[in-house]
Amino acid sequence: MPQDTAPHQQAAQRINDHWTVLPTSFPVPGMGSLPVNAFVLAGAEPMLVDTGLAMLSDDLFGALSAVIDPEELRWIWLSHTDADHIGNLDRILQAAPKARVLTNFLGAGKMGMMGVGDIERVRVLAPGEVVEIGGRRLRQVRPPYYDAPETMGFFDETDRVLFAADAFGALLPGPVSDIAEVSEATLRDGLVGWSSIDAPWLAQIDRDALGRTLSALERMDPALVFSGHLPVAQDIGALAGHVAAAYGHGATAAVTAEGKAAAAAVFE
Ligand SMILES: [Fe+2]
Ligand SMILES: [Fe+2]
Repeated sequence: MPQDTAPHQQAAQRINDHWTVLPTSFPVPGMGSLPVNAFVLAGAEPMLVDTGLAMLSDDLFGALSAVIDPEELRWIWLSHTDADHIGNLDRILQAAPKARVLTNFLGAGKMGMMGVGDIERVRVLAPGEVVEIGGRRLRQVRPPYYDAPETMGFFDETDRVLFAADAFGALLPGPVSDIAEVSEATLRDGLVGWSSIDAPWLAQIDRDALGRTLSALERMDPALVFSGHLPVAQDIGALAGHVAAAYGHGATAAVTAEGKAAAAAVFE
């Protein structure tokens, strides 16, 4: 697996007739590479899920434009307002005059505080509201862990896609286009390492509560698991198993002090 030297856009991957992933790889000094994904849903009402890193704006915009004319976009699903998800929102809204942002009350408020986006073009979703997009139903999902309280994943009933926002993200040895390239041990270590940084409260979580949350996701029986920070996956059971085994037992030792410091320097 090649090493990353700088953040870069990877080739877009068509997942099925409707979904395409726009992946990027972001090197984290001393820790490997973090995937940073956006997703495109084609159809009667095309939707973009998250807007990527501002530092890769031209590349992300080029990748998006190769998949769909941005003018055709009708929706932008904003998982949360972190920089790696909202980085190109203004640019894409400008290029996509028919698009409206899907977020919740807190997400809209944080966009306003940051001066990002346009409140006139936001559709604020009520808790639990099911969204109909181009004839398919998207059910809101609160991921099992997250780093911003407005975080809003979804379950696409048509293609049985679970979008888990930051959850199930993993630090990987280098840029990866297919999760099959990653061994089970590497995936486990990368998943635990990243989630320990992104959601440090997992180390204090009640084991049974975490187990119930993960089991509820498994019962959805998704065919595909989309994470903002993992190549597209199929096996929710394996991902949930790694998380369940790592947390609920007390503090994890998976992340070294040096690793935490290096990550903090990058992500602050
Ligand atoms: Fe985040
Ligand atoms: Fe993220």
